[in-house]
Amino acid sequence: MRAAAPAIDLVGARLELGGRAILSGITLSIGAEEFIGVLGPNGAGKTTLMRAILGLVPAAAGEIRVLGSPARRGNPAVGYMPQTRSNPAIGRISGRDFVASAAGGHRWGLPLLGAEGRREVARVLDLVDGTGLAGRPLSEISGGERQRLLLAQALLGQPRLLLLDEPLISLDPHHQHGVVALVRQLQTELGIAVLFSAHELNPLMGAMDRVLYLGSGQAAIGPVDDVITGPMLSRLYGSPIEVARFGHRIFVMAADGSEAEIGCHHHAHG
Ligand SMILES: Nc1ncnc2c1ncn2[C@@H]1O[C@H](COP(=O)(O)OP(=O)(O)O)[C@@H](O)[C@H]1O
Ligand SMILES: [Mg+2]
Repeated sequence: MRAAAPAIDLVGARLELGGRAILSGITLSIGAEEFIGVLGPNGAGKTTLMRAILGLVPAAAGEIRVLGSPARRGNPAVGYMPQTRSNPAIGRISGRDFVASAAGGHRWGLPLLGAEGRREVARVLDLVDGTGLAGRPLSEISGGERQRLLLAQALLGQPRLLLLDEPLISLDPHHQHGVVALVRQLQTELGIAVLFSAHELNPLMGAMDRVLYLGSGQAAIGPVDDVITGPMLSRLYGSPIEVARFGHRIFVMAADGSEAEIGCHHHAHG
């Protein structure tokens, strides 16, 4: 049997926004069944990279290949959970209708799905253990449950690559752990690739296969122990960084102590 194409191949990729290079000279390959944690300071380009993989930001140079073909918009094999998820006045829409609203067939904001569409909605709800949420109004479910429904939306159409942009934002540590564990379980069971961006490394420890760290327009990818080092992160942040370990937890700090936890609050330098 022919080996599956890599989920993502970047070859000398350069991504620009408004004429400014966000990432440049990025070469990396992500396997068809890898869970990759995408880390890096605010503004490093995590969202831009995902949008490029979705075909929404063209490569200004180099190549972006997704599941063996050039990145293109609307590829049904790629599922996406965007970072900015406004909470529109969805009133008493049910969990099922919320998931179905991403499956197309809208009319006056309500999904009109055929039997196949309804089966697909039931399938993804089951995958995220969200069948019990199907009939509940969205206004009454918790943040962690909402994340499960958003994950269900991203799983519609049986994607082979999932792009999850900061799904842990605004969740408490308990719910963060639940989301990470669920994504890891689905990723291994379905045999798919996942890019999972986050502000903090520690919630992803033990779940990710490799880490992709972005900073200063560059990228480093590899096992956590190879990438999360003082010299590597100093290069990516463009300033001296120290890495400290306490048991299984890792802390990334500015070496001069100017910021207690750089992972959470660092901003792009202008
Ligand atoms: N439309 C735009 N034009 C120019 N620069 C932009 C635009 N949108 C975002 N940026 C900049 O691109 C950089 C990368 O942003 P982003 O990919 O959102 O980073 P991250 O997701 O890692 O926080 C940031 O410095 C941001 O200010
Ligand atoms: Mg982002």
